Amino acid sequence: MPLVTSTEMFKKAYEGKYAIGAFNVNNMEIIQGITEAAKEVNAPLILQVSAGARKYANHTYLMKLIEAAIAETGLPICVHLDHGDTFELCKSCIDGGFTSVMIDGSHHPFEENIKLTKQVVDYAHSKGVVVEGELGRLAGIEDAVNVSEEDAAFTDPDQVEEFVQRTGVDSLAIAIGTSHGAFKFKGEPKLRFDILEEIERRLPGFPIVLHGASSVMPEYVEMINNNGGNMPGAKGVPEDMLRKAASMAVCKINIDSDLRLAMTGTIRKYFAENPSHFDPRQYLGPARTAIKELVKHKIVNVLGCDGKA
Ligand code: G3H
Ligand code: 13P
Ligand code: ZN
Repeated sequence: MPLVTSTEMFKKAYEGKYAIGAFNVNNMEIIQGITEAAKEVNAPLILQVSAGARKYANHTYLMKLIEAAIAETGLPICVHLDHGDTFELCKSCIDGGFTSVMIDGSHHPFEENIKLTKQVVDYAHSKGVVVEGELGRLAGIEDAVNVSEEDAAFTDPDQVEEFVQRTGVDSLAIAIGTSHGAFKFKGEPKLRFDILEEIERRLPGFPIVLHGASSVMPEYVEMINNNGGNMPGAKGVPEDMLRKAASMAVCKINIDSDLRLAMTGTIRKYFAENPSHFDPRQYLGPARTAIKELVKHKIVNVLGCDGKA
């Protein structure tokens, strides 16, 4: 099975009222943990690579690791650029074999966002690659962007039809109250499902993407805090809210922080219990297993895409 785009995955997910997991990858153990989980439950997958991941691990290494995962699992896998911020970066990923790119023009004014997104769509579509655009701004921190809470903005449903029609994007990321990272809500978690519903009404059948969708699973935060870490107030999106989004127009759910927490919690615990060990396989192995268990849980209990590969 060669790499695939997300077109078929989204069509089936929309109709079947479930979502595809888009998991961020940065190294071999993360790729193995995610893809072994998906194989066990026969789920389609989006593996996404940020600019930071590409800088850390190198484009060619990541592509070759993903190729190896396809050979091992036989799963339909889409390789996606997460939060591309320039045409040049998107072009480089398209030319380098990605089957999907995100151009995140959400921090630009509307007309500039349209212009940049359309430029990427024109090039991507000429190469058979699909494009995710973004309208609205999530709060939170990534390698490349740091959006404060005051600068975050919900997606305006009045803009979505024009944006999709003028850019030709294949999917749209929206802001309804999630944010990137491990500290998503100061008080009670709240998502604007009314905005999602209105967007769904205006774009019937069109796949919507939810960023910042880690649940910040308490067991891993606890594992970090109990083993020398310090993450008071870490809080994510409750899983029942993600299940609800997946049953609506949301076809792609982005998860990175949960993987980081599972990996870090497991490694911290390992060293607390085995202070004299120094073979990386001894702590990276359990970290890979933790990622695998986490991804299986997400696929089966939250996304609902098990058995859909
Ligand atoms: O949304 C951002 C992802 O979590 C990737 O983060 O830019 O630190 O690789 P990164
Ligand atoms: P989290 O930080 O909630 O995992 O979000 C990841 C994401 O949106 C990647 O684009
Ligand atoms: Zn994101």
